[in-house]
Amino acid sequence: MSVLNTVNSIEQRLQIERLSEATKMVAANAGSDVVRGLTQKPKSLPPCYFYDDQGSELFERICELPEYYLTRTETSILQQCAGAIAQITGACELVELGSGNSAKTRILLDAYQQLSYPLYYLPIDVSAGILESSAKQLLQEYPELRVHALAGTYEVALAQLTPKQLSSRMICFIGSTLGNLNPQECDAFLSQIRNTLQMGEYFLLGIDLQKPKEVLEPAYDDSQGVTAAFNLNMLEHLNRSFAGDFDTTQFAHWAFYNETQQQIEMHLKSKRSQTVQLQSLNLTIHFDQGETILTEISRKFNLNTIQQQLSAFDLIPIQTWTDANQWFGLLLCQLQA
Ligand code: AVJ
Repeated sequence: MSVLNTVNSIEQRLQIERLSEATKMVAANAGSDVVRGLTQKPKSLPPCYFYDDQGSELFERICELPEYYLTRTETSILQQCAGAIAQITGACELVELGSGNSAKTRILLDAYQQLSYPLYYLPIDVSAGILESSAKQLLQEYPELRVHALAGTYEVALAQLTPKQLSSRMICFIGSTLGNLNPQECDAFLSQIRNTLQMGEYFLLGIDLQKPKEVLEPAYDDSQGVTAAFNLNMLEHLNRSFAGDFDTTQFAHWAFYNETQQQIEMHLKSKRSQTVQLQSLNLTIHFDQGETILTEISRKFNLNTIQQQLSAFDLIPIQTWTDANQWFGLLLCQLQA
């Protein structure tokens, strides 16, 4: 017999749900997006192919680069305002999209814990492995925490959220991942957020803001070449996944700020005329010398514009925080009629 109030074991506080629907869909679609992107003109590839084990590790190194101000800036904003966020929302479940290693999540959990609120965390990520290891780590650090992890795409996981256990919910989408979506995808995403939340519930959004290209470009083309390695790793990832023969020494990292579209564009540029095969996709692709593959857009936002856009989806920004340079923004929105 155990003593009352004994802290529950990690296993008792952890639930990992593999959204089979999502897994099946991913399996069925596997590679069709690659085929579509590489047979298009201009060529492109979906940014999700950055994140195999190697790519996730390289991304963590990017976050520590002196030029990559995003993670540091957002972390310092969160440290300033997490207490206020917890106070405004009251006790609520934290749903996090693309949770990664959950480093920034700890700042929020600390704030809710300070107010003695129950801690209930629902991380959503496509990688079940990352979910499990970071959840176990968090459960060790927070004895009161319960975790319900969902392995699947954002779309499927949001559509399958189970009824809430606490009185309210906040969906967190930090790290400026919204910038990877083009305007059309962004609208579809915000509309799904609106449909997932109930009236009075919250959406926490972290976004990178517009700034001179002298600051932006080095953040995506660092002097140590980590971002170049991150970009080129996408080709290695395709080689591993689809029996490909990309020679990464024959492609160059190319990143620049497109001032008209207000977005960083990352490309891989073919150094010569060459042909590449992806055997398991039955695909042969020709590259002209200098031809590019668009691997990522990273949109940079204006606070007023994004506030209006959120409001159009009934996600009313009730408080906005930024840093002294106004380089990064954190918006707490509430679903209102
Ligand atoms: C994870 C999408 C926010 O756009 O800054 C970092 C990814 N790409 N360096 C970003 C990334 C190149 C990053 N996001």
